[in-house]
Amino acid sequence: MSNTFGHYLRVTTFGESHGAVVGAVIDGFPPNIELTEEDIQIQLDRRRPGQSSITTQRGEADIVKIVSGIDNGRTLGTPIAMIVENRDQRPGDYANANIIPRPSHADYTYLMKYGIGASSGGGRASARETVGRVAAGAAAEIFLREKYGVDIVAFVSSVGNINAPAINGTDISAITRNIVDQNLVRCHDQQSAALMEDLINQVRADGDSIGGIITCVCRNIPAGWGEPVFGKLEAVLAQAMMSIPAAKGFEIGSGFASATMRGSEHNDVFVRRDGNSEQTLATKTNNSGGIQGGISNGEPIIFRVAFKPTATIGKEQITADYQGNDVTLKPGGRHDPCVLPRAVPVVEAMAALVLADMALAQNLGLSPSHAADFKVSEHCENPEQ
Ligand SMILES: Cc1cc2nc3c(=O)[nH]c(=O)nc-3n(C[C@H](O)[C@H](O)[C@H](O)COP(=O)(O)O)c2cc1C
Repeated sequence: MSNTFGHYLRVTTFGESHGAVVGAVIDGFPPNIELTEEDIQIQLDRRRPGQSSITTQRGEADIVKIVSGIDNGRTLGTPIAMIVENRDQRPGDYANANIIPRPSHADYTYLMKYGIGASSGGGRASARETVGRVAAGAAAEIFLREKYGVDIVAFVSSVGNINAPAINGTDISAITRNIVDQNLVRCHDQQSAALMEDLINQVRADGDSIGGIITCVCRNIPAGWGEPVFGKLEAVLAQAMMSIPAAKGFEIGSGFASATMRGSEHNDVFVRRDGNSEQTLATKTNNSGGIQGGISNGEPIIFRVAFKPTATIGKEQITADYQGNDVTLKPGGRHDPCVLPRAVPVVEAMAALVLADMALAQNLGLSPSHAADFKVSEHCENPEQ
């Protein structure tokens, strides 16, 4: 199992759901970037459990501590290690999991692979692992913003059968995290958000759960980032997004809708780009989602990630124990009735990790797959002495 993501900016997450800590180590982070615990905390607060009435009530403050790689608020170019304590464990909630594998959780598959499983809370498969991703992603975002002006925003675009209105080019440039955070669901459209919140409350009252879709927009990505063939930018984004717990689908640009379109309506014709000396061309439409041939074309990168309904539900389920006997599983512990509001910063984090990896590779004239052969200190901009 891989616990490390990225070729050039390498992020390793560690920790189990009910262990002492969770966190991340980032290797390859450029030196001399201003980075504080407060910067990281902003995104962790958006991911944290117990943040609102429609999230799990597990009570974790999720306060990050940076334990290496920073001096006087600036990165040193050395590994950055970040930890967050687990404080609100309730292993008793999972007493049954050693007898009955929880349906659509990873209890059974982890046991089949390792022959041993974490005694509670899903171990590494738990969404608790995403604390490390969000912390590392927040750091990557700061680098991307400072060096390239990159801006990433994700939002909930559907919950169950409630879809927010489709976004057009103007909306794409206007959506901000402030707008998204004006409601508990993290939907960019306030009217749709109210309906989504009602639906989430309703399914929770029914002892059930619900899925949905998160859209992510990455702006100010220069043309030329990414790789051809096996390392295509959309392929790496797909891998990153599909590695998030409960992710079930990925679409770039027009995605599955492109299958019903004609080339004449789908093609993104070129136009002269205004006010940018380095890039002469823009495209009139963005069905490509900002990527062509695996390489960014300078338009916003737009993709969507589908999430399944939360596996833990408040209803009895007829299933089987590890011996294959029919059993009735009683309602499980605390859980999110819908994972999407808390998954928004996780999607943003994974997008930032992918893009920072691509940015570093492009900066060095390297493909990410070759980057591991080079040392940061030899090739990065010289830090101030
Ligand atoms: C932010 C976030 C919160 C989640 N919260 C829960 C939860 O409360 N209960 C649950 O059963 N699954 C939750 N999940 C999903 C599970 O971790 C995941 O479905 C499970 O480990 C099995 O993995 P898989 O769905 O990727 O196959 C959450 C996922 C994310 C991204």
